[in-house]
Amino acid sequence: MPFIDRDFINDLPNRVDIVGLINKRVALKKAGKDYKACCPFHEEKTPSFTVVPTKQIYHCFGCGESGGIIDFVMKYDHLSFVEAIETVAGESGISVVYDQTAKPVDKRFKRYNQIMSELNDFYQNQLKSSSEKNKVVSYAKKRGISGSIAKRFELGFAPPGWTNLFDQYSMNEDSVQDLLSMGMIVPKKDKKDDYYDRFRNRLMFPIHNAKGSVIGFGGRVLSSQDNPKYLNSPETPLFSKSKELYGLYHCRKFSRKIDSILVVEGYMDVIALHQHGITNVVATLGTATTPAHLQVLSRSAETIVFCFDGDKAGRDAAWKALKTSLPSITSGLVIKFLILPQGEDPDTLINKESAKAFNSRIEGAQTLSSFLIEHIKSKVPFDTIEGKTLFLEKSASLINLVNYSIYRQQLIEGIAHAIGQNIIQVEKAVEQSKTQNNQFESTIKSQQNKLNPGLVNKTISANSHSSVKNLMSRMISCVINYPSIVNDPETTSVIEERARNLPKSEVLVELIRHAQVESDLSKEALLLPYKGKERVYLRLQELSTMEPFLSEFEAKEEFGYALTAAEKYYERKSTKASILSAKTHDEEKAVMQSIMKSKLKKTNQKKSS
Ligand code: UTP
Ligand code: MN
Repeated sequence: MPFIDRDFINDLPNRVDIVGLINKRVALKKAGKDYKACCPFHEEKTPSFTVVPTKQIYHCFGCGESGGIIDFVMKYDHLSFVEAIETVAGESGISVVYDQTAKPVDKRFKRYNQIMSELNDFYQNQLKSSSEKNKVVSYAKKRGISGSIAKRFELGFAPPGWTNLFDQYSMNEDSVQDLLSMGMIVPKKDKKDDYYDRFRNRLMFPIHNAKGSVIGFGGRVLSSQDNPKYLNSPETPLFSKSKELYGLYHCRKFSRKIDSILVVEGYMDVIALHQHGITNVVATLGTATTPAHLQVLSRSAETIVFCFDGDKAGRDAAWKALKTSLPSITSGLVIKFLILPQGEDPDTLINKESAKAFNSRIEGAQTLSSFLIEHIKSKVPFDTIEGKTLFLEKSASLINLVNYSIYRQQLIEGIAHAIGQNIIQVEKAVEQSKTQNNQFESTIKSQQNKLNPGLVNKTISANSHSSVKNLMSRMISCVINYPSIVNDPETTSVIEERARNLPKSEVLVELIRHAQVESDLSKEALLLPYKGKERVYLRLQELSTMEPFLSEFEAKEEFGYALTAAEKYYERKSTKASILSAKTHDEEKAVMQSIMKSKLKKTNQKKSS
């Protein structure tokens, strides 16, 4: 039996979300500050099983069963103590630290939190004391940020200069490593022990987790001539964009009661709304809304209002959020959409209008079903029979994403009403689309199983040509979304070489090269060189939306597995071809021998490296 590090065990419950973990197993409902459900450990009709997140415990007032998250998982999943620790850690994306490991993870996390908090103080002080502070102060004033709101959000200033952070910490090797792990300094190209500060001459927005610790930063340029406009911390052991929401900590701290929560796109939107007294607001961090976001949101409030700009990008993002939301709809959760007038965002609008006017916009937000119907209508020639058929097909496949049966039925009725058909007709279409979806899904699933080592095993194979094409698409999608995954100086040249050896890999190789030049490259910048080649450009744009959404770490793994799978596919293909091309028995024997030889050579190479 492996021994797990003692400190790791003690610290684990503080690092995980007890509500989320239990909710995966037993559907919880919010009751004041706590959560309730019918007890999974004894028979009952009225809920007396309570989860108390502030104390990280559960307790059943009926049968007296109680404990922390590890006790719960041991009992519910029927696991041993060690297995329960591994399960809880695994489901929370934390690596278990075993006893023999030299560096316990919890100590590292303590240091990470410490250094982020120090940097937060440093940036805030610079806002008061830097010799260059005038331009940032006047910028903040120009944007209407008051002193007290700046203080509330702990805004700061990263002064100009390439090595302000590095110089402060360069004497301590551990701190330099921590700065690097937190993405606050960046290694210089080709110079191993030389770094520069990621954030320079920017207005700084610390990003807090729900508990209020600083886990990352966003920095905005002060002049419209500089770019990128916002720079954010990369994915780090503390910070995952697909899970965190900017302003969640402040929303909980400054709102008395959170009936509904507004989801906006930008840092400045959150801040401007607070400034006008609207505090139940969070922002995604430059990514689309993910299922993980939805989980957090639905636990925070009963109504979620997604707010987007009125331009095409905003509408597309709203539609994407709708699709992500459908599977999460459950009893008691209402999802709405607020599309703002063209060219406005919450920040500009609230500064033009009053808080009252903005609040009435929130009140009038469109329901999910009405947005769904309206959006699909706008995409088809609705006045024709063909258009209505298309409308029905598109909506049927979306209805199949909804798990909550009452809502499903309501949607079916809404769709029937919209096209003037009876409900049975719509139900038929939904059934039909389900069969099609199932076929499609099983293809996708079998591919995901091949790709995701956690799901099945680590031997991946790509059998058909279509799936190898898919592997190439997945690799490209990973690189577009996270150029940094192929930007590691130690491995990039090998990866580039391996990619080059694959047939039809020109675009992938090119993207890897671009990504090496600058790891912070935006998607748009990465795709810019292809603007002239319309077909490639459109395909790359398609691939730039990543479904399912992966974190940087997951994308890196997926890229690696897809690359290996593609190599294996072509290797097998060429073996097969040479066996088939052999005309005589002797030739066949010779081919087999040469294959065996090359295999042996490869195994030896692996052993020696
Ligand atoms: P927007 O471009 O809509 O900016 O980006 P904004 O919020 O209106 O910013 P201001 O008002 O000009 O200051 C919305 C969000 O997208 C992410 C940031 O999180 C930003 O708040 N973003 C945007 C980036 O990460 N990088 C960028 O270069 C731009
Ligand atoms: Mn703005």
